[in-house]
Amino acid sequence: MIGRLNHVAIAVRDIGKAAAVYRDTLGADVSAAVPQPDHGVTTVFVTLPNTKIELLEPLGEPSPIARFLERNQDGGMHHLCYEVDDIRAARDALKRAGARVLGNGEPKIGAHGKPVLFLHPKDFAGTLVELEQA
Ligand code: CO
Repeated sequence: MIGRLNHVAIAVRDIGKAAAVYRDTLGADVSAAVPQPDHGVTTVFVTLPNTKIELLEPLGEPSPIARFLERNQDGGMHHLCYEVDDIRAARDALKRAGARVLGNGEPKIGAHGKPVLFLHPKDFAGTLVELEQA
């Protein structure tokens, strides 16, 4: 069902500092910071040859990553995003298999302008999973 790993998301307190680490220390291709008020985060994308890293900093109150950063003071891996061909078909199959879909279960338009859904970490080896319709 799942296809390519679209991105790994890392929640951070200081996105400028995190972007500098990826750009200057790791030598990666790093985008400008983009505020996403609809999602409560500011994002930076790091483009790697085979996938992307999404850096997330809280924006406004309440931010969906605020609680995560309270529990993880230094920041850390927040979610994995897998691509699917048909997000509603994937959702329905996962629900039939007993997985919990977060929110109201309807896909939302994510940070890349494509439909996304989030799946409960307790059903996926302790990892928050985002599905994105490629
Ligand atoms: Co994401």
